[in-house]
Amino acid sequence: MNLTLKIWRQNGPNDKGRMVDYKVADISEHMSFLEMMDVLNEQLIAKGEEPVAFDHDCREGICGMCSMYINGEAHGPDREITTCQLHMRMFNDGDTITIEPWRAAAFPVIKDLIVDRTAFERIQQAGGYISVNTSGNTQDANATPISKHAADEAMDAATCIGCGACVATCKNSSAMLFVGAKVSQYALLPQGQVEAADRVRNMVAQMDLEGFGNCTNTGACEVECPKGISLTNIARMNREYLKSFVK
Ligand code: SF4
Ligand code: FES
Repeated sequence: MNLTLKIWRQNGPNDKGRMVDYKVADISEHMSFLEMMDVLNEQLIAKGEEPVAFDHDCREGICGMCSMYINGEAHGPDREITTCQLHMRMFNDGDTITIEPWRAAAFPVIKDLIVDRTAFERIQQAGGYISVNTSGNTQDANATPISKHAADEAMDAATCIGCGACVATCKNSSAMLFVGAKVSQYALLPQGQVEAADRVRNMVAQMDLEGFGNCTNTGACEVECPKGISLTNIARMNREYLKSFVK
């Protein structure tokens, strides 16, 4: 395949940034999208030009690093996959592909396609954990009965990889799908009950402090989430938030 790429180039947070056109030739349909980007960068390096900066790590859909907005969709045209799992067979010879970073005030661009997602880490630090006594008298996990339904729902919520596609997709730049998933994975389990009220209040407060918008039930986040995180997690977070003020 021969392709035209329109890629956002931005030297740093204070640079205005611009779209730049590139041509890549002989791209195999079996390549992943990031391998295609590697081909482009090898070309640029050979010509003495600056390669395109983009985030990646695991390249198998686990780490949540590969944040790219491709042809107007977070993680590109396929569903329930990350950019690193996107294959070039989803495109046609002669296509023009537009590649941009996540766009949200709370995710400032660091360089080219790399954005700063540490806002998510600060939300996690505000309450996305349970305090466990590890001094040797910890209760055996199997001693706490948990229904299959609750375990399955908690596991589904815990599959959120913190990629930020929900924020990038949302017209309000809302992080409520992410925070909803992180609150839910504990709210559904007995281990999460002790700190439940503080957790949801602190995580929501940090989310607002970081400048993320609110949910207006559009549902774009659920559609483009690579892990299929359900909107029901937002509803659960809202219930947990309300419950935290009722004794
Ligand atoms: S909810 Fe989905 S889109 Fe949002 S951070 Fe988690 S995995 Fe990514
Ligand atoms: S590089 Fe890890 S999820 Fe894509």
